[in-house]
Amino acid sequence: MIAVSLERLRARLEALAGFGGLPGGGVTRPCWSPRHEEARGWLLGELRAAGLEAWVDPAGNVFGATGVGALAADRPVVLTGSHIDTVPEGGILDGALGVVAGLECLETVRQAGAAHRLPLAVAAWSDEEGRYGSLFGSRAFTGRLDVERIPEMAAADGERLVDAMARAGFDARRAPEARAPAGAVAAYVELHIEQGPRLEEAGLPIGVVDSIVGVRRTRVVFTGQADHAGTTPMDRRRDGFLAAAEYALRARDLVVRRGGGRSVTNVGVVSVHPGVSNIVPARGELVHEMRSPDADVLAGLARECEALARRTARRRRVAVEVRPLSATAPALCAERVQRAVEAACVTVGLASTRLYSAAGHDAQNLAAIADAGMIFIPSKGGRSHRVDEMSDWEAIERGANVLLHTLLALAA
Ligand code: GLV
Ligand code: MN
Ligand code: MN
Repeated sequence: MIAVSLERLRARLEALAGFGGLPGGGVTRPCWSPRHEEARGWLLGELRAAGLEAWVDPAGNVFGATGVGALAADRPVVLTGSHIDTVPEGGILDGALGVVAGLECLETVRQAGAAHRLPLAVAAWSDEEGRYGSLFGSRAFTGRLDVERIPEMAAADGERLVDAMARAGFDARRAPEARAPAGAVAAYVELHIEQGPRLEEAGLPIGVVDSIVGVRRTRVVFTGQADHAGTTPMDRRRDGFLAAAEYALRARDLVVRRGGGRSVTNVGVVSVHPGVSNIVPARGELVHEMRSPDADVLAGLARECEALARRTARRRRVAVEVRPLSATAPALCAERVQRAVEAACVTVGLASTRLYSAAGHDAQNLAAIADAGMIFIPSKGGRSHRVDEMSDWEAIERGANVLLHTLLALAA
C-alpha cells in the first residue's frame, strides 16, 4: 500500500520550523514578515524540487500541483493545504503540518505513479492567523474578502496590511484577483493538529471534523475621565480600565452560563490610556472574542454581551462603544469528504471519531465553494498556540497517510 515518507516529512517540518524559530523552541512567523517571506521562498523551492508546478496568487497564497500550472473552471482539482504563518510564540505544527503533509502526499503520489483522475493541489493560505484579518488568503480565494476594508485593515500594533504586503512585494488592492474560478475546486481536505485535548483523552488517532466554530471579535471601548491618581477621591473616579476589567470577568461568566457548554470566550488584547501609573485611566479598551459551533447561540451571546457592556458602563459612569471587528459563521463539513476520510482510516487501519473544530480554519471558507473537510490528529496535552505545541511523529505519519488516501479517493 502506498504511504508517505515520515523521514522526508519530518525533515521538511524541521526545516520550516527554522524560519522564525525561537531559541527556546516554537516559532514567531507572522504573515508578510521577513521570516515568513523566507519560508515562502523555501516552500516554493521544495514544491518545485518535488516535481510539482508551483505559483503564488495575488493574495500571496502559494500553490503546488500535479500536472496543472493554474486553477481553471474547466479542470477541477482536489485541493489540500493549510498555512505557514504562525501566531507570536506559536508552535511548529499549527498550519505547517497541513502544508508540508500536503506536499508530501503529492510527491508520494507522483513518485509512485498512483492513479488519480483529477489533478491534486496543495495550498499555503496567507495570514490564516489573522494578524491583519483572519483567514485572509482563503477569504480572497473564495471571494469572501471585504474589498472596501482592505485599505483600513491593520494589525493590533497599528501596522497596515497594505504596507506589510508592499514590503513583501504584493499589492493588497489586487488580493481580490486571487478569487478562484467557479468550479475550480472539486473538494478540499485539510490535515491539522487538533489543538485541544479531546482525541488524546479518548485515545483515538484520527478526528474527522464535522463542523468548524464561528468566531466573533468585538472591540469594546470604555471611556471615562483621566484624573490625578493620588488626589482624586475614590468615589469620584470614572475609570475606563476598571469598567473594561469588570466587563471581561462578567462576560466570561455569561458565556460559560449561557453558551450551551460548547462556547468559549477570550480577552487577548487590552489597552489602557494614557497608560501611566499616576493617571486614572481615561480609557480601557479590549478585544473580546467568542466562539461557538452553534450560530444561534453565538448570535445570542453577542447580543447579551453588548447589553452587559452597556450595563457595566452605566454602573461605572463611563461611556462605552461596542464595535464588531469580525464575525465568521460556523461551517459544516461535507458528508462526502467525511466519508472519504473515514474510508481512508479503514484503509490505513485506524479508528476515528467525528468531532467539531474549536479553532477556526481556512477549510471554513473553502466550504463555501466546494465540498470541504478536515482531518485532526492528537495534540500532546492538548497544547497549541504556545511554543511547546507538539504531536507524536507516529501520529503525524498516521495523519499524513490518512490525508494521502483521502486525496486519492476524492480524485479517483
Ligand atoms: C486559529 O488559529 C484560531 O484562532 O482559531
Ligand atoms: Mn493557529
Ligand atoms: Mn492553524
